[in-house]
Amino acid sequence: MTRTPVNVTVTGAAGQIGYALLFRIASGHLLGADVPVKLRLLEIPQGMKAAEGTAMELDDCAFPLLQGIDIFDDPNKGFEGANVALLVGARPRTKGMERGDLLSANGGIFKPQGKAINDHAADDIKVLVVGNPANTNALIAQAAAPDVPAERFTAMTRLDHNRAISQLAARTGAAVSDIKRLTIWGNHSATQYPDIFHAEIAGKNAAEVVNDQAWLADTFIPTVAKRGAAIIEARGASSAASAANAAIDHVHTWVNGTAEGDWTSMGIPSDGSYGVPEGLISSFPVTCKDGKYEIVQGLDINEFSRARIDASVQELAEERDAVRDLGLI
Ligand code: NAD
Ligand code: LMR
Repeated sequence: MTRTPVNVTVTGAAGQIGYALLFRIASGHLLGADVPVKLRLLEIPQGMKAAEGTAMELDDCAFPLLQGIDIFDDPNKGFEGANVALLVGARPRTKGMERGDLLSANGGIFKPQGKAINDHAADDIKVLVVGNPANTNALIAQAAAPDVPAERFTAMTRLDHNRAISQLAARTGAAVSDIKRLTIWGNHSATQYPDIFHAEIAGKNAAEVVNDQAWLADTFIPTVAKRGAAIIEARGASSAASAANAAIDHVHTWVNGTAEGDWTSMGIPSDGSYGVPEGLISSFPVTCKDGKYEIVQGLDINEFSRARIDASVQELAEERDAVRDLGLI
């Protein structure tokens, strides 16, 4: 049986994340090794030529699953019939900026894109916002798409999740694959909270294995939360291949599910769980099944975690108020 191709729209296709992302989508890593895809690349007029070059390279790979590439500079066309949309195109921060500094620069991009998704995407559209500040950009896009169920708009904290797993594995000598149930709470920013109190390392509680509160507070959390800045400092440009990898992981897990006994972290519209005000796009522990996610319920949140979750959520509320004042939501 031939499967109908899935339409995947990627914005910022000519950027550095786009370059690391598109080849993996076309080779089946986003959705599955048996799922054909059609790519719809969305750029601004100045990015069109470079996007055409990338499309030529995609052609030259002769990917069996890639059934077409179209390039647009009009969001209404770029999102037409999209089943999956990866909103990457935005201005990255440079040295010395916080992600929040990008609010007004990038906010204007996500409102028209949200409207175009509302008006033109397929009924089953799933949206991942990568462009920073990712959570609040997702909120802007979601607010501009009243006909799309709000839960289809998500923001990427999977890179933070993967960074936290990697740091924990390095500290404990565990294999990455032995680490489960790690959670990123809150905003994809320096206030995010990587939580190991419910995480497991080869079946044992991670906080007990680590047993070092000072390392947790003074090394682990800041290393994960400030990793984006450390990469900008070292590379002179923001993370690209690891960000693309996390985008692939995010959508793959959303579509194909979490493993039994594990969960992942996604920025999603809050339903009020864990005291996060309804509607804010905040990172939570989620399980995925049959193309849907659910917040993991019933976790005990200790005082240490509560203070950090609250601080990050407070920042999200402030970002929401700022974009409201700018007329973006
Ligand atoms: P880049 O500058 O290399 O590429 C951005 C591309 O987006 C450019 O080609 C530009 O022409 C295009 N673009 C700009 N406005 C557009 C619009 N309105 N429509 C379509 N395309 C548009 O940047 P990059 O390194 O690829 O990063 C992209 C974004 O991802 C940045 O905001 C960056 O901060 C963010 N990011 C997020 C995470 C995360 O974990 N959430 C990780 C890394 C980077
Ligand atoms: C990252 O976490 O690497 C990205 O969000 C880029 C940035 O600005 O930190």
